[in-house]
Amino acid sequence: MPESLTNVMNVLQWMTTLLVFAIGLGLLAVVVMFIADVTQTKSAVRRNFPVVGRFRYLFEDMGDFFRQYFFAQDREEMPFNRAQRSWVYRAAKGLDSTVAFGSTLNITPAGTPIFVNCPYPVLERDATTTHPMMIGPHARNPYEAKSIFNVSAMSFGAISKPAVLALSNGSRMAGNWMNTGEGGISPWHLEGGCDIVYQIGTAKYGARDHDGKLSDDKLRKIGEIEQVRMIELKLSQGAKPGKGGILPGGKVTAEIAKIRGIPEGEDSISPNRHPEIESASDLLDMINRIRDVSGLPVGFKAVIGAYGWLDELFEEVRARGIESAPDFITIDSGDGGTGAAPMSLIDSVGLPIKESLPLVVDMLTRHGLRDRIRVIASGKLINPTGAALALSMGADFINSARGFMFALGCIQALQCNKNTCPTGITTHKRRLQRGLVPEDKAERVARYSKTMRKEIGIIAHSCGVKEPRGLKRFHCRVVQTDGRSIPLDELYPEVQSAFENE
Ligand SMILES: Cc1cc2nc3c(=O)[nH]c(=O)nc-3n(C[C@H](O)[C@H](O)[C@H](O)COP(=O)(O)O)c2cc1C
Repeated sequence: MPESLTNVMNVLQWMTTLLVFAIGLGLLAVVVMFIADVTQTKSAVRRNFPVVGRFRYLFEDMGDFFRQYFFAQDREEMPFNRAQRSWVYRAAKGLDSTVAFGSTLNITPAGTPIFVNCPYPVLERDATTTHPMMIGPHARNPYEAKSIFNVSAMSFGAISKPAVLALSNGSRMAGNWMNTGEGGISPWHLEGGCDIVYQIGTAKYGARDHDGKLSDDKLRKIGEIEQVRMIELKLSQGAKPGKGGILPGGKVTAEIAKIRGIPEGEDSISPNRHPEIESASDLLDMINRIRDVSGLPVGFKAVIGAYGWLDELFEEVRARGIESAPDFITIDSGDGGTGAAPMSLIDSVGLPIKESLPLVVDMLTRHGLRDRIRVIASGKLINPTGAALALSMGADFINSARGFMFALGCIQALQCNKNTCPTGITTHKRRLQRGLVPEDKAERVARYSKTMRKEIGIIAHSCGVKEPRGLKRFHCRVVQTDGRSIPLDELYPEVQSAFENE
């Protein structure tokens, strides 16, 4: 036999042995899995259907992926459907934001907003830009906020260093503010040079003393940072009212632990309420203390459920004098986002922004505080329609967290609580962060912010007003259960101030 043929035969023989070995190993593995499955007591499926029962878990895991990429229609997914996300992606990339042929949105379900265009829309040459709005006229350093659309609270910890860097740089470029979230101020928030809203959560990260109480010294130092323009006291967040912040231990790196003043690698769980605030007067005391010490405008963030407490708060403001009022209220929607929260709270507690926003605006009007206290709205307002609807209902500003996450490249993998985010936004694993290049994503953040403002303006112009804050309730109708729409000012009629002659 020629030598080459002998070599081929040897290789074939070697491969056959390998194949037999592999099949043997496979069979052995099946036998081991079979025995493991029938003898274990935890999973009924695996006990009743040994080995094949395991595919159920695999397919369940892969289901998210297949639904998103192959089966879900444009308007089907939750929390955000493909049409909503694609709009943000295109805006962020600076691509053409027009669509062809016609709308894929079904406009008949109850709750759908429809803006009322006027016969003579505002000519482009007559359109005006939105003027900066002052917040906190009685603070030592009031804030002239330039942008109606801003970055909502997301803590350094919940999101990564490159994400914070991209957001802070992008925010500077677009002229909007960035809220730090409850994890304190990191050097990356400041590096971008944007206006910062520092959030004080229930654990007071960044401004706490050794006992976890608010430290006036630290607060004073924060007030001296030029970029910090306002302070937001967080009472609650739409996704988890009554539950404090949750940062799983896997995400508590040495750097995050240092900024928060907590042990590395351990779960960071904030108290579910500010222990020292349990009444309207406690809340006002705290707001005034923070404002006096820092010199900055101070407001609070809450998701609204019960609302009688707001009447008590506004009455207390009236009794003390309007200087004592919070400078702003951030109303978060019950369906707001989070890094991690119990599903029961995410799903079922707290009013949606469409209900809570007009409710709070009307309460402010009745107490004659509508011009004194600015209203910031957040909760799935990631596209121009949602934001324009909130402005018509009475919001002065719109905040978004997840809209900006999409601008950063978020693919809605729903893994923010796992440190495995495939786009590097909510993970501290260097390998995954490599994909998020802050310089490139900062441009996207800025483009998204600017395009939002521009397209909210386009809706306003179509309704005949020169700039977004000109939108009023009568500019928008809402579809009812019988399929007919009624104007928002009929749903939420105008209320009178009890202090009209002031
Ligand atoms: C990853 C992530 C982290 C968040 N961290 C905070 C936080 O630290 N403090 C807070 O008040 N809200 C936090 N939120 C809530 C957002 O600020 C916002 O109120 C909510 O997501 C609604 O806005 P959106 O629908 O545009 O995301 C977080 C949301 C996300 C998605």
